[in-house]
Amino acid sequence: MFSDAADEAISDEVVDRVGRGSLYVALLAAWTAMMGSLYFSEIRGFVPCELCWVQRILMYPLAGIIALGVLRQDVHLPYLVLPFSLIGQGVSTYHYLLQKTDLFAARACTVGVPCSATWINWFGFVTIPFLAMVAFLVITLAMLVALSQGVPDPEDHRPQWHRRELVPVAGVAIFSLAWYSALALNQATAGPTAEPSTFEPAPLRGPLTPAGEDPMALLEGERLYQEVCASCHGMDGRGLPGLGNSLVDSPFVRERSEEELVAMVRAGRPADAPDNRSGVAMPPSGGRPDLTDEQLGAIVRVIRAWNP
Ligand code: HEC
Repeated sequence: MFSDAADEAISDEVVDRVGRGSLYVALLAAWTAMMGSLYFSEIRGFVPCELCWVQRILMYPLAGIIALGVLRQDVHLPYLVLPFSLIGQGVSTYHYLLQKTDLFAARACTVGVPCSATWINWFGFVTIPFLAMVAFLVITLAMLVALSQGVPDPEDHRPQWHRRELVPVAGVAIFSLAWYSALALNQATAGPTAEPSTFEPAPLRGPLTPAGEDPMALLEGERLYQEVCASCHGMDGRGLPGLGNSLVDSPFVRERSEEELVAMVRAGRPADAPDNRSGVAMPPSGGRPDLTDEQLGAIVRVIRAWNP
């Protein structure tokens, strides 16, 4: 039979192991989320929207806070982390609903990339806010597990630097950095090096409706253009610095048929595509995978009308 003291020692050890393990799960999630978001913006050239920035502001400090908390085996770490992860959870869930549903008709973001723009859509549901949502959820759950292990008496459990945590914590950081560097290196050697974002200014475009075009169809195309494309290519189609180039007086548009342009817009343009001139990526369908070929066709006819 175990003595009470031995029982206590064993349960202490289990508590310690579960609690410690969950802190490492949170650490790994925070570092993966941080490096992943840097990968999307810095390597893939996806421009972060306003809501993306809010989530970054909540996630990036956690990479440091959790690392320090693990090193000091601070039993109060969940109280520091949960406010960040729970708010992050709310923001990323809102962001995901904005992308995938019509619950929030009014757009939260009006400047730059629309928050509803979809850069990736793996398996039809995994978007960047979805990944953030998962990361915040993993961190929240890990903190709840750590909390459920019971907070030992702070008197005999004062946080202090633990040397045994140094190697695994540094390991997580180095692993994430190495993974990021490998992707960056891969991009640098594979794709043509993108030049700094210099979108050529274009002259003002002429009248919208050229002879022979149906004005009503053009009107619908113009409405969709303003809704989907204008945030990057400008209300007047003349481009916005660092977001999208000019579609007016554009040899690219002029040289292509309607079908070719619809296919190009449908596919978007990765930052490392051979014909990308700015190193900034365009999301597939301008970030709106729900647009039909007819709708893209209507938009493309408007753009072609700017390039007689
Ligand atoms: C999130 C920003 C963004 C949105 C939204 C967007 N684009 Fe783009 N678009 C870009 C970027 C960036 C490029 C590539 C610039 C480069 O190659 O350097 C581009 C390139 C293009 C090109 C090729 C132009 C050329 O000269 O090579 C066309 C055509 C185009 N977009 C049409 C559209 C249409 C139509 C929509 C709306 C359905 C749209 N874009 C929405 C950012 C965007």
